[in-house]
Amino acid sequence: MSCCCAGCGGGDIAAAACRSLKLRLTPSHVPALFSARALRKVTVMLLDARFSPTTTTSIHLRKQIKEPLGLEGKVALITGGASGIGECTAKLFAEHGAKIIIADIQDQLGQAVCEAIGSSDSIYAHCDVTKEEDVINAIDIAVATYGKLDIMLNNAGIMDAYKARVIDNEKTDFERVLSVNITGAFLGMKHAARVMVPARGGSIISMASIASNIGGMATHAYTCAKHAMVGLTKNLAVELGQFGIRVNCLSPYAVATPLATSYLGLDEETLEKKMHSIGNLKGVMLKTDDVAKAALFLASDEAKYISGHNLFIDGGISIVNPSFSMFQYPDNLS
Ligand SMILES: NC(=O)c1ccc[n+]([C@@H]2O[C@H](COP(=O)([O-])OP(=O)(O)OC[C@H]3O[C@@H](n4cnc5c(N)ncnc54)[C@H](O)[C@@H]3O)[C@@H](O)[C@H]2O)c1
Repeated sequence: MSCCCAGCGGGDIAAAACRSLKLRLTPSHVPALFSARALRKVTVMLLDARFSPTTTTSIHLRKQIKEPLGLEGKVALITGGASGIGECTAKLFAEHGAKIIIADIQDQLGQAVCEAIGSSDSIYAHCDVTKEEDVINAIDIAVATYGKLDIMLNNAGIMDAYKARVIDNEKTDFERVLSVNITGAFLGMKHAARVMVPARGGSIISMASIASNIGGMATHAYTCAKHAMVGLTKNLAVELGQFGIRVNCLSPYAVATPLATSYLGLDEETLEKKMHSIGNLKGVMLKTDDVAKAALFLASDEAKYISGHNLFIDGGISIVNPSFSMFQYPDNLS
């Protein structure tokens, strides 16, 4: 049987391993993401005495080759990891080899996510991000259980009810949203820094939104909190850069999660259709998985020189003023 490893730069060891195991790897198995780290991992796996080329293992191998495996040996704490974007990201990080701490107030859901990931690779910590002692406790659990903290994802968030007139907005609602969405992220950053600075490294990622950049997309409180997230991200990126710690945020367009469906009062399918119709990029729907993949990139060493960045996952809607309709093709042209 032939193997493409040597021919496509995969290396002699991998080629020899494939030959000895009579494996046929086609060029499609060795895409651009076949990084040196992925190559090492696959080679070790091929040479492992326990390895037997069953169908199941082949599928596993194919999956491993396609993915960059960037989080092996890393420890990630995800606030708001019991649901929606956080849950999806926790599962994706775990698939890529990270140990996970889910920090949330929805205990049953959070524990169910940990069960899905596997109890040896994840742990749940009850944590209300507005309470500093809870945040301290969650981070201490991460360090006590897995020895360190490499990735902090400040994802917990809430939305207040939509009210068209500012006069109808209550101060308590405004403060509640800021308390979870920005004070919570501040506490996450603060206590992540507490353990990352002595370790001289880490990646802090926070969940912003397209409302971090554009007005009129969400409530006043939510828009304030997400704008503030960008400022806090920039400041922390400056402060923590000297310790090799990267600080970034993500800004997704609407995703059908409990937060968005209850805010808009729509079921998942209707929400996606509506958002697609007013979105800039056609033919695709934004899913939690797309946000999780962007978080994976920022968390991994593939993004080793990216810091202070607000990465938009929005199909370009935040860079267009649609009222100009500049490039609207006539109906009879495709
Ligand atoms: N869904 C969207 O359209 C969208 C778009 C842009 C940004 N975001 C942001 O993504 C993040 C995740 O939201 P989602 O859409 O997955 O919603 P979600 O409701 O599915 O998840 C939010 C999670 O945060 C947790 N949470 C709420 N308050 C908390 C607190 N005080 N302490 C700890 N955890 C708390 C909830 O229990 C829940 O598990 C939020 O920051 C949100 O602002 C969402």
